[in-house]
Amino acid sequence: MREYSGFLISIEGIDGSGKSTLAQSLAKALMEDNHPVILTKEPGQTRLGKKIRNILQQEKNLVCDKAEFLLFAADRAQHFEEVIIPGLKKSKIIISDRMADSSLAYQGYGRELNIELIKKINSWCMNSITPDLTLYVDIDEKTALERIFRRKQLLTAFEKESITFWKRVKAGFEEIFKGKNNVIKINGLQSQEEVFNEAYSSIIKAL
Ligand code: ADP
Ligand code: TYD
Repeated sequence: MREYSGFLISIEGIDGSGKSTLAQSLAKALMEDNHPVILTKEPGQTRLGKKIRNILQQEKNLVCDKAEFLLFAADRAQHFEEVIIPGLKKSKIIISDRMADSSLAYQGYGRELNIELIKKINSWCMNSITPDLTLYVDIDEKTALERIFRRKQLLTAFEKESITFWKRVKAGFEEIFKGKNNVIKINGLQSQEEVFNEAYSSIIKAL
């Protein structure tokens, strides 16, 4: 039995898969249907998190791989303390654009750090809370990179990584989510509307 009454949803996938677009449309639709929603993200939702995100984006050359994971973990601990746990206690539906599985895929599989250690530290940062539902937006790395370059936003440190890094991250997500019954895999190559419809109906079913 969980001690909080809210509902926690994470949205995962590689950069450019359409997570942020999906998270925003889901939050809007759920609010219009009078559900109490919090839309949040990792990294960078809290004041500390914003400082951490700036370091990760702008001063990547100062940060070794282990420190990189620990910075994401610090962001996560603060996020749970300030946003997730209070939200769950208030019975909110929380939609988080990325969460712990991003560290497993990017730092564990992408950077090839120790997976078991990442799992342990993640769980400690999250007070052993896990998402009730994960929406995995699945897309090939080539299409994702094309979308990122078309988006014309400043590229993050990760978006400048090599294609082999992306292949490891994508394979990582596949491995992490294999056989998990609280994970809904959605084909991210579909139109925004199709992606939204699939995601929305799985949330309504799970609530
Ligand atoms: P992420 O948050 O996963 O990095 P975004 O939601 O920012 O991805 O989407 C990346 C780009 O692709 C944006 O320009 C967005 O408008 C576009 N996009 C999002 N979903 C789709 C879709 N289903 N089909 C085509 N383009 C999409
Ligand atoms: P950001 O621009 O904040 O978000 P997004 O690209 O998802 O819209 O970039 C965050 C980057 O950090 C993104 O490339 C994924 C990566 N990341 C990790 O490597 N590990 C993590 O634990 C998290 C949460 C994100």
